[in-house]
Amino acid sequence: MPVDPAYVDYLVQPGGSLSGRVRVPGDKSISHRAVMLGALAEGETRVSGFLEGADALATLAAFRRLGVTVEGPDHGRLRIRGVGLHGLTAADGPLDMGNSGTSMRLLTGLLCGQDFDTTLTGDDSLRRRPMARVTEPLAAMGAHIETAPGGTAPLAIRGGQPLRGIRYEMPVASAQVKSALLLAGLYADGETWVHEPAPTRDHTERMLAGFGMPVERAGAWSGVRGGGTLQGGAIDIPADISSAAFLLVGACIAEGSDLVLEHVGLNPTRTGVVEILELMGADIEIRHRREIGGEPVGDVHVRARPLHGVTIPERLVPLAIDEFPAVFVAAACARGRTVLTGARELRVKESDRIAVMAQGLQALGIQAEPREDGMVIEGGRPAGGTIDSHGDHRIAMAFAMAGLQSDGPITIRDCRNVDTSFPGFAELARSAGLELQTRTAEDAHE
Ligand code: S3P
Repeated sequence: MPVDPAYVDYLVQPGGSLSGRVRVPGDKSISHRAVMLGALAEGETRVSGFLEGADALATLAAFRRLGVTVEGPDHGRLRIRGVGLHGLTAADGPLDMGNSGTSMRLLTGLLCGQDFDTTLTGDDSLRRRPMARVTEPLAAMGAHIETAPGGTAPLAIRGGQPLRGIRYEMPVASAQVKSALLLAGLYADGETWVHEPAPTRDHTERMLAGFGMPVERAGAWSGVRGGGTLQGGAIDIPADISSAAFLLVGACIAEGSDLVLEHVGLNPTRTGVVEILELMGADIEIRHRREIGGEPVGDVHVRARPLHGVTIPERLVPLAIDEFPAVFVAAACARGRTVLTGARELRVKESDRIAVMAQGLQALGIQAEPREDGMVIEGGRPAGGTIDSHGDHRIAMAFAMAGLQSDGPITIRDCRNVDTSFPGFAELARSAGLELQTRTAEDAHE
């Protein structure tokens, strides 16, 4: 039988603790935006700390095919020769966004303002995810986008359509939708305003301002005016708090841990995981707070301390939206019950993270009850067992951390997509003390 060499399992031995100082790779959300705005700017943009993971590389490859010259990545450095807002050229075929929802949704906004056609596609997971949340408001701006039945990718975007600014109230709190509309707004006649029902990550707004394009904010509204220009410059990307979150949880739950996560992006729209863990009793200290390129950064020092279950405040959900796989593992190792509500969005991430996490926790003997919009978890001590990550990077990394507190070895299947957001995860986690081995399909067939 042919084997897929890209198929990777994790084997985690129980016990151990996490210590030392580590720097996780660059922020995925900021890396995407750095490439996009750098490409659309006048002049050169120099980026450091770029995430060389498959998702951000998919964005980079797309812009190269749209006629943008980029040197790198070389140890996280890029030199992007901006072509200006109107300098992109047609790609010679469909652009494949792989597993990356951010690439697809933000590029849809940006590409419907061009004078050429583009088709965007992606892997099986991405082609199942909802895209009508961007294509419908973009259509209200005058865009012409054909989707597959059910509003999914592939998306065929017709160029040469004049766009007009709108005022749009998002039904879900989504930074990707907000960003797609603001990017389209750069090409629209008049002003484009987006209202968010709860605060979501504001990297697009901050970076546009850094490129000389002011984004007005009025309460929960953000607005841009079309017809301006962006000015390239230097961008230093901090470490991704969403990647740091796995080690943060690991160090909270594994007795004897004492870990410093260096240079972590601490944008207040991203730090929900720190707040949730603190509510659960975690010992987390932020040191050397500083601001770099318009984004707050700091070193996160965490020491193990027993956690207790909590009812997670719904206001924290969008501020920790990517961190729930890790938070669920923390809850599984805490004393008492943790209740999450108001998190239906987890069902449309790279996998259905409510269903897949509940199944995985149950496979480890933890009582986890999935709810339509969240989960109820009775904390305890995970047993060993086998988990299917369903090709979801964050599910794989979250369950790797469960090994620190489990009674037996944990095998996690299908971890190749960890490379989308955290290349080098296995090595870095090992260097901090996790007993993790990788096994490819080839190893298994030897
Ligand atoms: C992202 C926004 C979030 C998040 C995703 C990255 C971004 O998605 O889950 O990983 O970079 O804008 P939604 O906007 O769909 O909530």
